Amino acid sequence: MTFPAQRPRRLRRTPALRRLVAETRLHPADFILPLFVREGLAEPAPITSMPGVVQHTEATLLDAAAEASDLGLGGIMLFGIPAQRDPQGSAGLNPEGILNRSIRAVKDAVGDDLPVMSDLCLDEFTDHGHCGVLTAAGEVDNDATLEIYGQMGAEQAEAGADVVAPSGMMDGQVAVIREALDAAGHQQVPILAYAAKYASGFYGPFREAVDSQLKGDRRQYQMDAPNRTEALREVELDLAEGADIVMVKPASAYLDILSDVAGISDVPVSAYQVSGEYAMIEAAAANGWIDRRTVALETLTAIRRAGATNVLTYYAAEAARWLQED
Ligand code: PBG
Repeated sequence: MTFPAQRPRRLRRTPALRRLVAETRLHPADFILPLFVREGLAEPAPITSMPGVVQHTEATLLDAAAEASDLGLGGIMLFGIPAQRDPQGSAGLNPEGILNRSIRAVKDAVGDDLPVMSDLCLDEFTDHGHCGVLTAAGEVDNDATLEIYGQMGAEQAEAGADVVAPSGMMDGQVAVIREALDAAGHQQVPILAYAAKYASGFYGPFREAVDSQLKGDRRQYQMDAPNRTEALREVELDLAEGADIVMVKPASAYLDILSDVAGISDVPVSAYQVSGEYAMIEAAAANGWIDRRTVALETLTAIRRAGATNVLTYYAAEAARWLQED
C-alpha cells in the first residue's frame, strides 16, 4: 500500500483553512437587488411565484432602498409597474410616471450611498407587453423603439438614475441611448447593457411580478438558447457602442456564456440570477428538498466563479445578511 503524497484534503480540514484558500469570495457589494414598485398600491403585494418578494408601494420602496444601502449592497435595479398602459408605453417616458418618480424619490432618500439603476425597457409600460413598439403587422419595430429608448434613458438620467440598464435587446440600443444621454448632458451616466439576454423560460415568475400583458414570446429579439458564439457578437457590439457594463442573463443555466463573456470583456460583467432561478430554489427549499441558504449561496458563488463581477439577485439583501453572520 503506497500512501498519497498529494493530499488536497489537507487544505479542507477546517473552515478557517478553507477560507484561507477560497478562490472566490462573496461580498454584499457584489449583489444588486431588483425592486418592483407599483403605482397606486396601498400595501406591498406579495408575488406568489417569488416567495418573499413583493411589489412595493412608493413608500415601502424607500424602506427597501434604505435597507439595501445600510447593507452595503452594490446597488438596486428598479422596475416600475404603471397603473395605465398603452401601445406606445408612454408611461415610461413621462417624467412623472411611476418609474421616473420612484427613481427621484429613492435618490432623494439614499443620495450617493447606493447606486440606483433603472430598467430601461418598454415591456412594463406597453399594453401588449412587448419590449418595443409594434409595426402594423404586429412585429416589434426595432428602430422606432430605439428612439423611445433614447428619450427614456434621458428621462431616467434626469430623474437621477446612477446607471441605466437597457434590457430590451433591440439592435443598436446602446449607441442610441449613449447619444441621447450625452445630448442631454448626462455624459457621466453609465449604461449597464443587457448584452447576452436569452429568451428564457426562467423569466416566468417575473411576468407575474410586473403583471406582464405579453401573450406571445420574445424570441424575435432575445437570444436563442442554443447559441454561444452569438453571445460574443452581442457583447462586442455593445462594447463598441459604448456599454460600460455588460450583462449575461439568465445566470445559472448560462455559466458557459458568462465565462466566455468574462474572458473577452474589458468592462465589468454582470449576471442576472432571474426570477425562475429564485423560484426553483424557493420551491425545493419549501418542500424540504434542499437547504435554502446553502443552495442560494452556492449558486451565487458559482455565478461569481464563472466570471461575474456582480450579480443581480433577489437574494441580495438576505445574502448580505448571511455573509455578515458568517
Ligand atoms: C424586461 C425584463 C425581463 C426581466 C428583466 N427585465 C423580462 C423579460 O425579458 O421577459 C426578467 C427578470 C427576471 O426574470 O427576474 N424588462
